[in-house]
Amino acid sequence: MKLFIEKDYDVVSKKTAELVVGAVKSKPDLIFCLPAGSSPIGMYKVLVDMYKQGEVSFRDMITYDMDEYVGISADNENSYAYFMQKHFLKFVDVKSENVFYPDGMAADLEEMCKSYSESIASKGGLDLAITGIGSNGHIAFNEPGDKLIANTHVVNLDETTIQNNSRFFGGDMNLVPKKAVSIGMEEIMKCKLFLVVASGKHKADLIKRTFENTDIDPMWPVSFLRMHPNCIFIIDEDAASLTDIKILKKYI
Ligand code: GLP
Repeated sequence: MKLFIEKDYDVVSKKTAELVVGAVKSKPDLIFCLPAGSSPIGMYKVLVDMYKQGEVSFRDMITYDMDEYVGISADNENSYAYFMQKHFLKFVDVKSENVFYPDGMAADLEEMCKSYSESIASKGGLDLAITGIGSNGHIAFNEPGDKLIANTHVVNLDETTIQNNSRFFGGDMNLVPKKAVSIGMEEIMKCKLFLVVASGKHKADLIKRTFENTDIDPMWPVSFLRMHPNCIFIIDEDAASLTDIKILKKYI
């Protein structure tokens, strides 16, 4: 794990976007795994601005969404497929035939997950992925458990995840889907560059636990990124504020 500590959310977003732009410039047909959640919204905004300024093109890029709710369709405004359109894809030149996402409405979800994984593998695996950290340590929707799952799979969302994500559903936990589809830990570990973004005081405990505790713990899925060959955390000063600086410095 490597670490950048930036001043605030805006600088985190800019730094993350710069890493994405660097990656797409060195490999225009980048296989980019797109995250949802609040953390990456600023980064998408910077990417859209840079595209509009003519500083970058995504014309040959291929995108795979990292996760999706089960039971809501891509045109539902709470779906992650819709989120990607709203914050990024509709503004840039990614070709629609290069946009892939798990179909949360598939009649046979297991089969859909299998073909999603095969599609990623057929392109040589993910080049770049970005995620926030869930309050229970999840990455994508790989929820804590006695084991983690290698490839794209259906997951029962944790109570804490349902509660946290209810803010996107008018605060009503009953409206949040109880199941989701997520890329798996092997797909994450094989991703050539994996970025984690975290900003704000509400992420400070998560960062402390992730950096101060060296266990590789399936009950804390983000801890597996300790074994990732090329993983960079981009966090702000508030998110770093509870962690022993001597420990953080080892990763800078
Ligand atoms: C959702 C996403 C995760 C993301 C998490 C963190 O649960 N499925 O991929 O990491 O939110 O959310 P936020 O960035 O809003 O803190």
